[in-house]
Amino acid sequence: MNAVVTLARPEIVNLKPYSHAAWRPSLTRLHANEAPWRPTGDTTNAGLNRYPEPQPHALIERMAALYEVPAAAILATRGGDEAIDLLSRIYLRAGTDAILQCAPTFGMYQVAAHIQGADVIEVPLDPARGWAVDPEQLLGAWQPHVKLVYLCSPNNPTANMLDTEALETICRALEGKAIVVIDEAYIEWSRCASLTRWLDRFPTLAILRTLSKAHALAGARVGALLAHPRLIELAKRVIPPYALAQPTVEAALRALDPAELAASRGRLEGLLAERDYLSKGLAASPLVAKVWPSNANFLLIDCLDIDRFLSSTLAGGMIVRDLRAYPTLPRSLRISVGSRAQNDALLHCIGST
Ligand SMILES: Cc1ncc(COP(=O)(O)O)c(C=O)c1O
Repeated sequence: MNAVVTLARPEIVNLKPYSHAAWRPSLTRLHANEAPWRPTGDTTNAGLNRYPEPQPHALIERMAALYEVPAAAILATRGGDEAIDLLSRIYLRAGTDAILQCAPTFGMYQVAAHIQGADVIEVPLDPARGWAVDPEQLLGAWQPHVKLVYLCSPNNPTANMLDTEALETICRALEGKAIVVIDEAYIEWSRCASLTRWLDRFPTLAILRTLSKAHALAGARVGALLAHPRLIELAKRVIPPYALAQPTVEAALRALDPAELAASRGRLEGLLAERDYLSKGLAASPLVAKVWPSNANFLLIDCLDIDRFLSSTLAGGMIVRDLRAYPTLPRSLRISVGSRAQNDALLHCIGST
């Protein structure tokens, strides 16, 4: 049997999934207990009185073109967060299984594992090598009860890409032994190629993408789990039947329209120039010790005086992310790159010249 199935919780493999109302758009819908009228103010094309199409065909086709993977390898989710939640529920048995992650990294991997009652094993990223992952160390930490291995590239909050060769070594060594999850939430800001082409080579690889960041749709909640079709089938059993709300689906379709994609590429280039501008400005501040290189739409900085940095920006009406809860980031902040006016206002607050 395929390893994406044998690694899964038997309850999920054997689950008889919920059977939602048949999707037959050409027929008059009298099978889903919906109201026959639209609510006041409804601006959607399909009507908010109707349940949305589960895994909307048009959206999946657009994602397939965008991510260059077959439609069968895609599950549209409520953001990367839902993909993480689904993977945890499919693969982690309470009190038995574990995830392996690099530290510091995105907090939801750990939270989702803990919600599921699973353990978290961590290996440190190396700040002396630009927060690089050491594949030998990571593979040394792997044990048979580790079902999910998270690799975030570009990594949140350190903003660096993980080395492709290191990722390949890890994928090769763990193929069939664990689901290796490469989270590419920020890949569009990196000018590096996505690793979706590896899905053919490594059947137990899963890749997370999102429309929240480069497509400016964080409020709509749309992402994608890209994986072997057998894993996608399992995830379809677990995801609620009407996960993506109709306004969200329509917003995602607009965002993935060719003209809008071209426009968002232009905006993305603008933000990358703004990232350089903000990075130089931060480096010139007397409160900042180091600005780390970034492959994302945010900057990691180490402060000389973190309390003053935080109080000055707050006094100016701005909020940045305090990272002191991470043991390896005792004087660090994460700052999203904003518009020129926002970036200038921030630099003004911290006395950058
Ligand atoms: C690395 C990473 N992965 C996934 C997500 C989840 O994003 P969303 O659920 O909006 O797609 C985030 C959000 O900040 C993130 O930083």
